[in-house]
Amino acid sequence: MTTATARAHPNIAFIKYWGNRNNTLRLPANSSLSMNLAGLHTETTVTWDDSLSADTLSLNSETASQPALERVAFHLDYLRDRLGISTYASVESHNTFPTGTGIASSASAFAALTLAAVVAAGQELTERELTTLARLGSGSASRSIPAGFVEWYTANTHEDSYAKTIAPADHWDLVDLIAIVSDQHKRTTSSSGHTTAQTSDLQDARVDGAQARLDTVRQAILDRDFPTFADVVEEDSNLMHAVMMTSKPPLFYWKPTTLTIMEEIRAWRSEGLNVCYTLDAGPNVHCICVREDAPAVREHLEKLSGILEIKEATVGGSAHILAK
Ligand code: DP6
Repeated sequence: MTTATARAHPNIAFIKYWGNRNNTLRLPANSSLSMNLAGLHTETTVTWDDSLSADTLSLNSETASQPALERVAFHLDYLRDRLGISTYASVESHNTFPTGTGIASSASAFAALTLAAVVAAGQELTERELTTLARLGSGSASRSIPAGFVEWYTANTHEDSYAKTIAPADHWDLVDLIAIVSDQHKRTTSSSGHTTAQTSDLQDARVDGAQARLDTVRQAILDRDFPTFADVVEEDSNLMHAVMMTSKPPLFYWKPTTLTIMEEIRAWRSEGLNVCYTLDAGPNVHCICVREDAPAVREHLEKLSGILEIKEATVGGSAHILAK
C-alpha cells in the first residue's frame, strides 16, 4: 500500500477554454490563460491498495457515487497505463469551496488527484508531463499544476498540449473577490458544454480571435497594465457566454444578479477602481482587482442585493505534495 496527499488550487481563466479539437484527449480549441486561486484548494489523498477490487472515492467525507466515481476511475485508468501499474486506488478528496457553482472544482480536483497518484506510485514526472496528464481528467486542471499565472497551449497531440507558468504568483498582487449568487449545483457541466460549443455560429469567431486576445492579456500581465487587461478579460468572458447562449441547446448560466454585478463593475471601473469581471460556467462573478482596490470593491459588492457570500482569493502557487 503506498499513499500520497496533494493540494491544488482552482484557477480562474482570463482567456477561456471552451470547446475541444479532440474531446477524448481534451485538446482545446484555443490556448487559454489563468491565475491560480490561493485561499481555495482541494486536498486529495491517493492510496494504491493491492487489496482493492475497484477504485473508491470519497468527496468531502462522503462516499461518492456516479458520475463522479466513474470519471475518477476513468482518469485513474489513464494514470495506471502511464505508470505501468494495475492496482486500484482509494481516493479521498476535500474542497474548501462549493463544487459545481462556477468555481472550477474539477481543475483543482484533477490536478491534486494526478499529482497524488503519481507520487503515491513512487514516480517522478516533469511538471510539463503532469500538466498533460491532469488535462486528460479535466482540461482546466492542466493550468492548476504550475504556479501563478499559467498558459495552456492548444496543440494537435497529447504531449504538446501542456501548461506553463508565464509569471510567478508574486509577480502581480491581484485579488479575486468571488460574488456567489447561487450555490446550486449547475445543471449543465462544462464537459457537456465543450461538446456543443461548435454548434454555435459564434464559436469559430471566438476561437479565431483567441490567440490575439491571449497575447494582449499575457503582455498586460507582464506589464501589470490593468486597463488593457480589464477590457480584454471582460471581452473574452462575454464571447464565451455568447457562444454558450447561442449553442444548441443554449446554455444560460447568468442569473439576474450576475448581470447587475457586471454592469456595476464597469461603472466602478469608469469611476477609477481597478476592477473587472470574468465568469466561468456558472452564475458567480469573479471580480478581479488590484490589492489596493479590493476593500473598496468589497464594500461596493456588500451593498448589492442578491449576493449570498463573497469569497476572496489571491494569486496561488503550484500543486504540491503535503505528505507521502
Ligand atoms: C468555463 O476544464 O471544467 O471554466 O475539461 O470537461 O473538465 P472539462 O472542462 P473544464 O472547463 C472549464 C471551462 C471554463 C473556462 C476555463 O476555465 O477556461
